[in-house]
Amino acid sequence: MEKSITYFENPGAENTDAVIELVRERLEGSNIKYVAVASSTGASALKLNEALKDLDVTIVNCSHHVGFREPNKAQISAETKTELEEKGIVTFIGSHALSGVGKSISKKFGGVTPVEIIAAVYRTFSQGIKVCAEISIMLADAGLVPVGEEIIAIGGTGSGLDTAAVLTPANMTNVFDMKFHEIIAMPRP
Ligand SMILES: Cc1cc2nc3c(=O)[nH]c(=O)nc-3n(C[C@H](O)[C@H](O)[C@H](O)COP(=O)(O)O)c2cc1C
Repeated sequence: MEKSITYFENPGAENTDAVIELVRERLEGSNIKYVAVASSTGASALKLNEALKDLDVTIVNCSHHVGFREPNKAQISAETKTELEEKGIVTFIGSHALSGVGKSISKKFGGVTPVEIIAAVYRTFSQGIKVCAEISIMLADAGLVPVGEEIIAIGGTGSGLDTAAVLTPANMTNVFDMKFHEIIAMPRP
């Protein structure tokens, strides 16, 4: 089997439109029914929806947990969350699967927890690969994407999108059942 991967010279939001176009191309004629996107503010999720609106696919958005930047504040505004909902896109906001309480332990006592090592290994590919893995766990645990079925996950580096993969999600209790099948695009580290 031959597949092509697009490598971006630099990571970051400048690659958002290109990733979305590549995801669209991969979806056309495929059986993939779910696209999971990490969009903290909802901006990339709105762009993705615009590009995929004629395809029979469910887009699910994952934002940062409340308090990620400021106490009691979500990064996505209530207006954008509603706008996405009106377009059929649910936004999940919850604890990050690949840091979790472990982050507090390493911050307070030093060292590193096993789950943060998993995240660090994924980051040797790209920030976005770690994000694809993380949001697929979070969304599977929320019942918003299926386990045991291939989906597309999209992430980025800080903001926007630069990485997309075809993967089979797993729940937090069976993380090593997750399978990365294809990299569609990623920055070349
Ligand atoms: C749960 C979650 C975890 C994330 N983790 C990282 C990360 O470890 N490294 C990183 O560069 N970006 C991370 N991001 C950012 C995303 O990859 C993406 O660039 C961003 O959410 C896009 O948001 P925007 O549409 O508001 O620009 C994370 C986002 C979410 C929602």
